Amino acid sequence: MRSPSMRPLLAAAFAASVVVLAPSLASAADPAAPSWSWLGIFGKYDPAQLQRGFQVYHDVCSNCHSLSLLYYRNLGGDDGIGLSDDDVKKIAAEKQVPDEPNDAGDVKPRAARPSDHFVAPFPNANAARSANGGALPPDLSLIVKAREGGPNYVYAILTGFVDAPKDAKVPDGKYYNKAFAGNMISMPPPITKDSLVSYADGTKNSVEQESQDIVAFLNWAAEPELNVRHNMGVKVLIFAGILTILAYLVKRKIWADVH
Ligand code: HEC
Repeated sequence: MRSPSMRPLLAAAFAASVVVLAPSLASAADPAAPSWSWLGIFGKYDPAQLQRGFQVYHDVCSNCHSLSLLYYRNLGGDDGIGLSDDDVKKIAAEKQVPDEPNDAGDVKPRAARPSDHFVAPFPNANAARSANGGALPPDLSLIVKAREGGPNYVYAILTGFVDAPKDAKVPDGKYYNKAFAGNMISMPPPITKDSLVSYADGTKNSVEQESQDIVAFLNWAAEPELNVRHNMGVKVLIFAGILTILAYLVKRKIWADVH
């Protein structure tokens, strides 16, 4: 094929890539927001980060927040965070759930299994409120979808605990947070530099690191199929590209005598 004839194809490919990549570039406009690994069509979750994020949920957030749409088995498998079946079994077995009633109708507790939902920290919303000064810690399964700004907003909340301005009166049981509407939040700062988890994979920790990792994990919780979807998207684009080239070559062949 002569090179000038490639020009329209290259131009089309360039235009397509601009359209496809523009959304991921746009998110770089917010200077305070981390650059999330899963944005853009080639974006992927980083399993090491998801596992660190799970460690943060497990050690910190799960004391107050449920994650009730997840099953323990979701942590393994293709859409999972890269844990083995044995790891998943061990994590599930840390919690107790009510067993099936026995012959006498008594319900005894048993260790949770991979097929069980994540166990909530409180038996019901009233218990959760009463342990948190009247405020309900929301379920985190879909929190990145439920709040405008998604992962950037949740990150801003976690890193938004600052000293209150002098004229602000912070009531008992409330904390000043610059990202929260009205600034007075009922959640004590969950990630502080004095209470960082020490990562199992040895990653050096900081408030920003830990906040990014838990947000990545929560994004996965709300959208676990993203890696699979992006893989499929890339395959479709490659397929469409090859098809375009073939169609073009066929067109040239058919019209060769006319030109
Ligand atoms: C000591 C209990 C406690 C812990 C631990 C805790 N939270 Fe919260 N969280 C709360 C409460 C209570 C609220 C409700 C705050 C309100 O409505 O003022 C809340 C609210 C939130 C919100 C919603 C903010 C909004 O816009 O409504 C997010 C997001 C959140 N927490 C994330 C986390 C994450 C992530 C962790 C772990 C790193 C965590 N929380 C740990 C108690 C807790």
